[in-house]
Amino acid sequence: MSAVSGRRSGPATGRSWGADPSAFRAADLDPSAFRAADPDADPYADALRVGRGPLFLRRADGRLLPLDVERWCGAADAADLALLERCEGAVLDVGCGPGRLVAELAARGRTALGVDVSEAAVARTVALGGQALVRCVFATLPGEGRWGTALLADGNLGIGGDVPALLDRMARLLAPQGLLMVETEPADVDESVEVRLVGTGAVSAPFRWARLGTPALLRRARALGWRAEAHWEAGGRAFVALRARERRRDPDRDRRSDRDRAASNSAEPANRAAVTSSQRARKSSPDSPVAPA
Ligand SMILES: C[S@@+](CC[C@H](N)C(=O)[O-])C[C@H]1O[C@@H](n2cnc3c(N)ncnc32)[C@H](O)[C@@H]1O
Repeated sequence: MSAVSGRRSGPATGRSWGADPSAFRAADLDPSAFRAADPDADPYADALRVGRGPLFLRRADGRLLPLDVERWCGAADAADLALLERCEGAVLDVGCGPGRLVAELAARGRTALGVDVSEAAVARTVALGGQALVRCVFATLPGEGRWGTALLADGNLGIGGDVPALLDRMARLLAPQGLLMVETEPADVDESVEVRLVGTGAVSAPFRWARLGTPALLRRARALGWRAEAHWEAGGRAFVALRARERRRDPDRDRRSDRDRAASNSAEPANRAAVTSSQRARKSSPDSPVAPA
């Protein structure tokens, strides 16, 4: 991912797809930690610019996992629409990419916000008429604890490579009993691996990414207190709908999370300034949880 502006190279910026959730500790805010062999390589932004691949996740063992840039940059398809039909209330699309889901929801008059660490992705989402923020999912977000639905589509359960940490974060973003919709791998896998993004002539820094099939996600989510509402397949893709449990407050844990997030935010002024123009210009509807962070 390319730098958005100013200081965007430390873990707290979520510059990489694999922004490590544990990086949001003040002690870890060392901007040199993510220095890559080629820190300017941004194969993802390059692919989004032209709306197509080839783009792959390359594992350390050399295996290439193709990424469907053309579909992400197209309009919402039938499988996407079936997913969106199930959404409840205001929708947070985590790792929104170029924004077809956010744009479709906006066109239907729904309150929806995309968040993504990639400036190129957020710019495309806004150009399509959606609202989006350049922000890491583990940084402070608008409407925390009030979203009706959160989306982890197109394999975004992989973000950070730490599924329990991401599921915990999603529970904190959702309203009590909110809905989490996850797109899983069609195969029965359960792994967290180091990968690099590889495009035409550019290779990103390494980052961790998780890949889970439906059985693995159901197993893990249930153990963490989520209720499985449904799972289905459409267009060769697999999806799971999970219901968040009522949250019991843990003041010590909440205090720790607040402290860690405050540290990460103070280390990334550029990130907070990166609220998109659409976000600044448009006022949220009164029932919208989209409010200044
Ligand atoms: C597999 S792509 C998903 C594409 C997207 N859902 C779409 O509709 O095109 C993963 C997306 O997650 C974003 N991402 C990676 N790490 C993130 C993080 N820590 N916080 C927010 N977004 C992140 C990437 O920039 C990328 O756009």
